[in-house]
Amino acid sequence: MKILVINGPNLNLLGVREPGIYGKQSYEELLRSIREGAARLGVEVKCFQSNHEGAIVDEIQAALGAFDAIVINPAAYTHTSVAILDALKAVGLPTVEVHISDISQRETFRQFSYVSLYAEKTIAGQGFGGYIQALEYLKQRPVQQ
Ligand code: DQA
Repeated sequence: MKILVINGPNLNLLGVREPGIYGKQSYEELLRSIREGAARLGVEVKCFQSNHEGAIVDEIQAALGAFDAIVINPAAYTHTSVAILDALKAVGLPTVEVHISDISQRETFRQFSYVSLYAEKTIAGQGFGGYIQALEYLKQRPVQQ
């Protein structure tokens, strides 16, 4: 099983960026933890990060026929991007949305997610562990006809 893991803007600054909210671990450490989790589960992962909405749309489009599922933390684009929502819907792959922080307990503008309108599951507030939970969910998910 091949899973594409997408991280949106400013997540490359993990560890530096608001550590009280996102923790002290870096993006490199997040990648290490995702790769370890994937190896343990026996799934193949590609990790992609971009600060640009169009680049994320391109990556989602390129997943068609190349990946079995998507894990996405769209970061700030969660709350603004119809383009990312439309790309996910166009490609139609099973998708899990992940947020490191619990967006339901933060500012009002973070409480609406466009991506949630398509994602099969949303995991928020579990730190880096949310990405591993997303991989576990996709691995055990029954294939729909
Ligand atoms: C985030 C939450 C978003 O509201 C924020 O813009 C982010 C990160 C999270 O992982 O908790 O950049 O997606």
